[in-house]
Amino acid sequence: MTNRTRSPRYIVQGGAPLRGSVRVAGAKNHALAAMCAALLTDEDIVLTNVPEITDVDSLSELLTSLGAIVEFLSPGRLRINAGNVTTFEAPTELISENRASFQVMGPLLSRHGYASSAPPGGDVIGQRPIDVHLSGFELMGATVSRNGERFVARAPGGPGSLHGGRVFMDYPSVSGTQNVMMAAALARGRTTIVNAATEPEVQELAHLLNAMGARIEGIGSQLVEVEGVRHLHGATARVMPDRIEAGTFAIAAAMTGGDVEILEAPVPVLDALLAKLRVAGVQIEQGETTLRISRNGDLRAVSFQALPYPGLATDLHAPMAALLTQANGVSIIHERVFDNRMLYVGELRKMGAEIVSTGSSAIVSGPTELHGASVRALDVRAGAAVLLAALVAQGTTVIDDISHMDRGYEHLHERLQALGAQVERT
Ligand code: EPZ
Repeated sequence: MTNRTRSPRYIVQGGAPLRGSVRVAGAKNHALAAMCAALLTDEDIVLTNVPEITDVDSLSELLTSLGAIVEFLSPGRLRINAGNVTTFEAPTELISENRASFQVMGPLLSRHGYASSAPPGGDVIGQRPIDVHLSGFELMGATVSRNGERFVARAPGGPGSLHGGRVFMDYPSVSGTQNVMMAAALARGRTTIVNAATEPEVQELAHLLNAMGARIEGIGSQLVEVEGVRHLHGATARVMPDRIEAGTFAIAAAMTGGDVEILEAPVPVLDALLAKLRVAGVQIEQGETTLRISRNGDLRAVSFQALPYPGLATDLHAPMAALLTQANGVSIIHERVFDNRMLYVGELRKMGAEIVSTGSSAIVSGPTELHGASVRALDVRAGAAVLLAALVAQGTTVIDDISHMDRGYEHLHERLQALGAQVERT
């Protein structure tokens, strides 16, 4: 009998209110896009506040496989130099590990005139097509074809021969906007991206590109203008704090009835969450970069929709649902971004949650006394939801497949332990 190594798991004893302070790490969805932007120049891109998560490791491996130099100069300080990139084919085994790696396509196509990749992997939370990425490239003059499972994009005139255009996004896709914006940065002429995504991570990428010499206007709006340039240079940028991680800690503090100070919180981009938590009866003291989360009294039911920014982030949908299992009354949730992001419901129900889900909506009744169970982390955020539930459940919860959570949360159990949680990693 081969002794297959079991993926790591969390063992959680519920019941401890979280107390103390925690610093928010750098944002996964900013860091990954910024790493891909390094492919647009032959000079050094240095990123600071880079989170220690496995998605950064797998993308580093992918960039290295293309010929880039990727090295940590010190903890959280990453240097990337794509001066010697000679391969433009993203290895399938690496592209299937995390979705952001598909954002190598725009930079490679624009700078080198050729890029090829299999469809990206990432969390199984819906269809997740890439049509807006590919149609954006085509509108800039590229030809896009299939070669077996791989997409092959070519700029007929070779390196630097993409041209500007008016790109309408069928859906304000985050990575679609980032990919097209990066391709447009080195295209000839002006590209107008209509119905662009406005997420903070998209805005931060645009600021990095401008720091590299790009000419992007309308940052943060749904109409982004990119005036192409011939060459981009090196730059240093700080990865913004992770708003999803900050939200996850805020929800954890509220759920456990604790008192937690969240440091380096990106407060200005958390409006939707903070508004909902206040309606639910959570006490929030907010500073410019700090949040103090506490509670005196029961949680109240609150309904919400998961929407593109500045709406409530779909990545906080599942953690919020966990919180609402402890609230008085009936909460209604509508997921408007992904068409299959309700898988977490089954895992929370194993812990005694009263949730009914249909299609992309769920009805949560509370408060219910949750109990320990054996559950799985089905993806990064569904994993966070069951972990939060385990923190308030009676007894012991075993959470398997937590490698999903390692993709998006840095040293999560140690930071929760520091706040008084009883969570072991085995
Ligand atoms: C990014 O994914 C994030 N990932 C996701 O975070 C996040 O949930 C999502 O944006 C929405 O905020 C990264 O940044 C690496 P989308 P992305 O393209 O870019 C439709 C996490 O947990 N669509 O904005 O893949 C699609 O069907 C992850 O950190 C098209 O129709 O998301 C989907 O319903 C999970 N055509 C919707 O847009 C396209 O070509 C949102 O997708 C592309 C997308």
